Amino acid sequence: METLVKKIDEKKQGNVLSLKNQKRGTKKLYIESYGCQMNFSDSEIVASILNKENYSTTKDISEADLVFVNTCSIREKAEQTVRKRLKVYNSIKKSVNPDMVVGVLGCMAERLKEKFLDEEKLVDLVVGPDAYRDLPNLIKEVEDGRKAVNVILSKEETYADIKPVRMSGNGVTAFVSITRGCDNMCTFCVVPYTRGRERSRNPLSILKECQELYNSGYREVTLLGQNVDSYLWYGGGPKIRFKRATKEQKENAVNFANLLRMVAKINNKLRIRFSTSNPQDMTEDVIDAMSENKNICNYIHLPVQSGSTRILELMNRGYNREEYINLIDRIKNKIPDCAISMDMITGFCTETENDHKQTIELMKYVKYDYGYMFKYSERPNTAAAKKFDDDIAEEIKQRRLVEIINLQQKQSLENNKLRIGKTFEVLIEGYSKRSKQHFYGRTTHNTVVVFKKENCKIGDYVNVKISDCTAGTLKGQIV
Ligand code: 5AD
Ligand code: SF4
Repeated sequence: METLVKKIDEKKQGNVLSLKNQKRGTKKLYIESYGCQMNFSDSEIVASILNKENYSTTKDISEADLVFVNTCSIREKAEQTVRKRLKVYNSIKKSVNPDMVVGVLGCMAERLKEKFLDEEKLVDLVVGPDAYRDLPNLIKEVEDGRKAVNVILSKEETYADIKPVRMSGNGVTAFVSITRGCDNMCTFCVVPYTRGRERSRNPLSILKECQELYNSGYREVTLLGQNVDSYLWYGGGPKIRFKRATKEQKENAVNFANLLRMVAKINNKLRIRFSTSNPQDMTEDVIDAMSENKNICNYIHLPVQSGSTRILELMNRGYNREEYINLIDRIKNKIPDCAISMDMITGFCTETENDHKQTIELMKYVKYDYGYMFKYSERPNTAAAKKFDDDIAEEIKQRRLVEIINLQQKQSLENNKLRIGKTFEVLIEGYSKRSKQHFYGRTTHNTVVVFKKENCKIGDYVNVKISDCTAGTLKGQIV
């Protein structure tokens, strides 16, 4: 115990980190990510920034000099998960690794700011999603014995020039961030507060990153943003300032459909996916770009949130039930084979049984391939929290959630059954969890397919004839 206290004291004076590191030459970073794909992608940017500071990543927390948790605030449950992890870090720090420095990154850092330091004594650093370039300075502060916080949101930052360290990947599929922030202001959502104003990344840096990924063996990129359809490059800066752009900037602006076509040209063996789309921002031109290019996957994640126009209005979603259905019809018209998935929220403020019924009817109409479904969770300071009562009882939220999950499960299974007997091109991503004799990969529709290995390798495209399925997976044989 005495040595433990001594070591912590030494660290406060900035000794332990530097002494240990001089001996080893390189420092170790352990980083855990929660929430959306953007957080996982950000963690790769953080690893890259710290790589230059002589940190290499480790999967073993007990040997880490620096432990980061990249956090999510989207629902209360996501925040509780992080709090639980901090307790685990605390016990590891006490029993195994007393020197470790602990930092909180991402949306919870941005939402709670300095308050985090009061609430969680273990935490040394609190860093918001636009402040990662400042990490080297903030870490120095901590080495000097101070706690450090930077939660300044930026209107320009896109980390365009930073080459992410691909940490947990399979070497075949990668995320490429194209926009940051969100201007949509859905009333339930905390993202505009934690990730700031929407801005787009320079298309040349996106193309460079995708080309480099292709050159190093990657065969699929997912273009990432809170609202990809709203991508607009006119020379940088917040999207809302586009109105004030010069004539030349306006003429040369690159929108999402243009960007898709540019990325699709890199190589027809590079598949392109994107996430997340917003119904109100998805243009006909994006649908055209998809139907023109075989390597843009036939899959759209198109969150709807509710099937009731009244609820959509309260959510400030910017479209109504009819407009959403019309968009689905237009997609299916131009790309009959397009898989569609959704996000749905049950129990939003004032939701009636009739609103819920409309959600169910909408699901039956669209026959989504997959769905991500949630109970409404009130987030502090959002418009919904300020304006409306969170008035739907927990049991009702839960019952409605179970109903839509069961329906989705049934529909996913039905959709997959229709694929039995057909042959699909599959990009091999890795070994099946159950057996080293089997590979798994995905079809253009983002459906997982498991099949016997035979004479092929990870990263290959193979044709697989489907013979069986569950709601989540297809099974088949290479033909
Ligand atoms: N409560 C429940 N679900 C939410 N989402 C966003 N905010 C909330 C909230 N307050 C869901 C939406 C969104 C997905 C990423 O998370 O469905 O599309
Ligand atoms: Fe949140 Fe709406 Fe923006 Fe999605 S579009 S991140 S739900 S505010």
